[in-house]
Amino acid sequence: MRSYPFASALITGASSGIGEAMARELAGAGVATVIVARREDRLRVIAEAFDAVEVLVADLLTAKGQRAVAKRIGSSSKPIELVVNNAGFGTNGVFAELDVDRLSDEVELNVAALTRLSHAALAAMMPRGRGWLLNVSSVASFQPAPKLAVYAATKAYVTSLTESLHEEARGTGVHVTAVCPGLTRTEFMAVSNTDTYADQFPGFVWTSADQVVRTALADVIANRALSVPGAQYKAMTVAVNMTPRWLRRRVSGLIQRG
Ligand SMILES: NC(=O)c1ccc[n+]([C@@H]2O[C@H](COP(=O)([O-])OP(=O)(O)OC[C@H]3O[C@@H](n4cnc5c(N)ncnc54)[C@H](OP(=O)(O)O)[C@@H]3O)[C@@H](O)[C@H]2O)c1
Repeated sequence: MRSYPFASALITGASSGIGEAMARELAGAGVATVIVARREDRLRVIAEAFDAVEVLVADLLTAKGQRAVAKRIGSSSKPIELVVNNAGFGTNGVFAELDVDRLSDEVELNVAALTRLSHAALAAMMPRGRGWLLNVSSVASFQPAPKLAVYAATKAYVTSLTESLHEEARGTGVHVTAVCPGLTRTEFMAVSNTDTYADQFPGFVWTSADQVVRTALADVIANRALSVPGAQYKAMTVAVNMTPRWLRRRVSGLIQRG
């Protein structure tokens, strides 16, 4: 069992995928963990497997849901030391043909809810001079992604916001990190209509949720601004950063065309 410097955590999107793996890792290590999502049945199954897991059912697309989670993060009687903003989804398809209400929801969850909860986290942690904020972004944040255009744009926001907050928090005792996973086998593909990726992309490009969790936790503890799980994605990120913007965009467009 690993040991962690934080005694408590709150994870959004903990009912499946990366969030569930994070919840199981932390709860298994004895961290008092608040798990947040809409599917209460899924959250209850996780809570029953561990001591000290608190279930908070919330729809982060609603103001009520965002307020409830922000309030829990800000609690002074039961402080949260690590906040993981993980809930998010994507939408695959040609921008003009997609349901615009769904795209607005994507921005609301990936950008607005994450911003509100990051604010709640840092407002609670800064005065304490101690805390950890981990925002789940994506390698899609490093270049545009035709047919996942809104998703890549929301994640570019998450990476940029988180890097700014990392610098604001420098020297305060509060750690702020964006984890940028590559393709990871979760329910994301079914939700985002990217099921074809399983056949389209070879096995070596896939990471597991557990690998993402291990790397992300190590990097937020080390107070790294950016965390990129997997050697293949670390190498890709270096290459992308050395590539001119127009070429990144063209390559991204060619990959999407399959
Ligand atoms: N899988 C990948 O390849 C990949 C790559 C890079 C980044 N990511 C990012 O990793 C994060 C986790 O995704 P995942 O891959 O683990 O996908 P996932 O298995 O689909 O998990 C998404 C989680 O978000 C929650 N969620 C969705 N809408 C919500 C809402 N309105 N309110 C509250 N919770 C909501 C879901 O719970 P409920 O449905 O129960 O509410 C679920 O627990 C996302 O931010 C995603 O963008 C994923």
